[in-house]
Amino acid sequence: LTSIRYKIQRGPYATVTDADVRFFESLLGSSHLITDPDECEHYNIDFAKTVRGASKLVLKPTSTEEVCAILKYCNEQRLAVCPQSGNTGLVGGSNPIFDEIVISLKLMNKILDTNELTGILTCEAGCILQDLDNHLSTVDLMMPLDLGAKGSCLIGGCVSTNAGGLRLLRYGNLHGNILGIEAVKANGDIVDALNTLKKNNTGYHLKHIFIGSEGTLGIITKVAIQCPPLPKAKNVAFLGLASFDKVLKTYFLAKHHLGEILSSCEMMDRLSIDVSINNLGMKNPLTSREDGHEFYMIIETSGSHLVHDEEKLSSFVEKAINGDLIEDGTMTNESKKLNTIWALRERISEGVLREGYVFKYDISLPLLSFYNVIEVLRKQIRDPRIIRISGYGHLGDGNLHVQVSIPEYYEDVAAQLEPFIFEYVSKCQGSISAEHGIGFKKTKYLHLSRSSSEIQMMYDLKKMMDPNGILNPYKLLEPIIEKL
Ligand code: FAD
Ligand code: MLT
Ligand code: ZN
Repeated sequence: LTSIRYKIQRGPYATVTDADVRFFESLLGSSHLITDPDECEHYNIDFAKTVRGASKLVLKPTSTEEVCAILKYCNEQRLAVCPQSGNTGLVGGSNPIFDEIVISLKLMNKILDTNELTGILTCEAGCILQDLDNHLSTVDLMMPLDLGAKGSCLIGGCVSTNAGGLRLLRYGNLHGNILGIEAVKANGDIVDALNTLKKNNTGYHLKHIFIGSEGTLGIITKVAIQCPPLPKAKNVAFLGLASFDKVLKTYFLAKHHLGEILSSCEMMDRLSIDVSINNLGMKNPLTSREDGHEFYMIIETSGSHLVHDEEKLSSFVEKAINGDLIEDGTMTNESKKLNTIWALRERISEGVLREGYVFKYDISLPLLSFYNVIEVLRKQIRDPRIIRISGYGHLGDGNLHVQVSIPEYYEDVAAQLEPFIFEYVSKCQGSISAEHGIGFKKTKYLHLSRSSSEIQMMYDLKKMMDPNGILNPYKLLEPIIEKL
């Protein structure tokens, strides 16, 4: 069935035998391996329930040495594998497509070192993002990334997708924050690049090939991360606006007015916030208009002086009101209220799933034409089965999330959306994937955001790192085996 729906052929890999299972049992112990089909199901299906694999074996190593032994064996036996962390990825990268062996990193969750002075955290790849953040807060530090999936995603999964999140605008992406990586190559060899130096121009920066490579070049087992100090003061403004033009002007005002304390700038259209309100029963904190607002923004500041930051944020809001940019707004620095406001934004991806199937697009666009794509899609696709076409995202990073929800998957609706949206984004000089990656779902469209010389070099790299193509096949590059 998989191959009919996905229209791809299984690669020339071996099939797991009883002898293979016995080998892994002797290596890991029977409690660190899953063969029960019901238990495997959870690892075969993605968060958004859009991809289903048919893996019959899940392995749960507890150390780098075990990962090495697994990969060495799989490489020799030509067994394909799918590395999996929190399984919150949104592009079908973390699930097997056929019967690839799932290698779950969940049990590799030790914090190895926390240097309070330098702010460098070293840990195993299977630590949950939220747990790391909680741990760091005890020493007045924080993780440089935050996303709605923080309670489930693992740091190795975040690094493998180069996850962006809600505060990239302030803290930058993981290519900057990850100082060192330990990874295991397809043949079982360890690449020890677990540096903790901020500056180290001694040859190629090999860590970067693992950041964002979505499990296709190696399995990340340890990371060293530069962590910023925990801000003493956090303030949030939640604003209602009448048009996207006003959203843009408000963002420019925020950038200039708030300067170094601006830590996030997110936008949502009416249909996006409706998801949290209608599907999850949350309340809109802005009540001045019964019918709400066309657009909403969350503007957050993080700094070291509550009163100073509060004054700055209120004078920004006042300026925005006087300039007729916003219709309504509220500000808070109380952590409970702050979390409630953030939840309205962070839970959109969870809430929209209550409607059925969701086509999700995660695109970068030049700011001036940022929201046009939503209007274009609404005009172009007038299908009565569509529940909503909505847009929200990381405005400060030029990253829009488009959601098209329908009660269930329809092939003809998919055909109306794709490749149309990807080609549209490419024509606008945007990116077909801003932060979620290529995974399984977008391999066909990689050429719309990368030149042929870049793609050729990706294949060359893949061939060098994984000559038998066992690492996460059918992902990122298509179809790997024939091209190697
Ligand atoms: P998985 O989903 O398990 O894996 C992701 C990819 O990495 C797969 O290709 C997998 O094979 C590979 N992989 C996993 N672990 C390893 C490893 N140790 N070594 C090598 N390869 C590995 N993403 C953003 O960028 N920004 C957001 O704001 C954001 N918000 C989200 C909110 C929600 C509610 C959800 C469900 C998802 C969100 N995402 C976001 C997408 C997703 O959470 C991120 O891509 C996250 O980084 C994935 O982490 P994970 O641990 O779940 O990895
Ligand atoms: C977000 O910013 O909420 C995410 O990247 C997740 C999504 O798009 O669903
Ligand atoms: Zn996002």
